[in-house]
Amino acid sequence: MSLADQLRTIVVRAFYSKHPPEALRLLYAPDAALVKAITIEHWRFLQMFPRWCGGIMMKSPHQDVWEYEIDNLHDELIHDEAVGGGHYVIVRQACLESGWTADEVDRGRAHPKMQRALDDWTAIVRDRPWVEAMAAVHGTEMLADQRLKKHPDFAMPSIVSDRSFIEKGAFGPATRRWLSTTAADTAHAGRAADLVEKYAAVDSTPEAVLETFRRSMDNMRLYFEAIAERRREILEAKA
Ligand SMILES: [Fe+2]
Repeated sequence: MSLADQLRTIVVRAFYSKHPPEALRLLYAPDAALVKAITIEHWRFLQMFPRWCGGIMMKSPHQDVWEYEIDNLHDELIHDEAVGGGHYVIVRQACLESGWTADEVDRGRAHPKMQRALDDWTAIVRDRPWVEAMAAVHGTEMLADQRLKKHPDFAMPSIVSDRSFIEKGAFGPATRRWLSTTAADTAHAGRAADLVEKYAAVDSTPEAVLETFRRSMDNMRLYFEAIAERRREILEAKA
């Protein structure tokens, strides 16, 4: 199996098997508290993402890697053709739409589990070879990769950028626009996996790439645990 396919297999087994993390399972029938939890925690994640991409560029000597990172950041941060705007503007709108105030968005803190995940991704980018960091950081986009659905172990009804997924439950218009922007992650995750495969044996080893990738997916699990716990806090505050 190619290294890229091995990475996708890890993602499918961890997140799209018959036993997905609680927050991911709940996303298939989202309530207002879950939407409020995911928008703010994903916003916290987005505050770090471009900085990790910058770290990868700083360490990598390869032009195709810089081009990829700049393309990706242009889509995410500046302008995604599919939605006619920057992903960040849309996610911020989704936060406000789901009930957060601008002050809470700007001054709030990540859930402690999300903070642990963010700190560990930062540590990976700082301490590991760039190609492992690339697998770890862009592996987070792999959860919206349409290719996963073709995997034999894929057991969920849909994937986050699917129309059938987006049109359900308590998602408001801005949240729906945001989820539809994750369609770009099929390309982002695919190109990153190809670059990781190209350089894994040059600038690290395939075994070390897989080990760091698993560490990143453990962080992704924390990301979903943080969202599930944030949702419970929101429900308790309302009760
Ligand atoms: Fe992306």
